[in-house]
Amino acid sequence: MPFVPVADLADIPEGRGLRICVEEVYIGLYHVNGQVFAMEDTCPHAGFPLSKGQLDGCVIICEAHGWPFDVRTGFDPENADGFPIPCFAVDVRGNTIHIDTGSRTNDPRHHSRKD
Ligand code: FES
Repeated sequence: MPFVPVADLADIPEGRGLRICVEEVYIGLYHVNGQVFAMEDTCPHAGFPLSKGQLDGCVIICEAHGWPFDVRTGFDPENADGFPIPCFAVDVRGNTIHIDTGSRTNDPRHHSRKD
């Protein structure tokens, strides 16, 4: 799947995410320490848009009930056994952010729990 342009760097608000929709999937874009990360934008707790939360370093804190997720990995940094959020490869060309939706990681359809 090729990378597709989705937003400009300047569109991402400071300390928060930018919610976009690509191929009917809501994705949050985050700009942290000069790098851009893309993670599905639906909180697994109750579905709130994670991009509306506040970044604490690389961790976005869900505005609804405070669940944290590392935007680099999709994992809750306090619960490594939890279900991670799907993330996507990002390529920034000039000021334009591109993502590869075919690079989806942490896909829950292919996740198996350790019991
Ligand atoms: S909806 Fe995100 S913590 Fe509840």
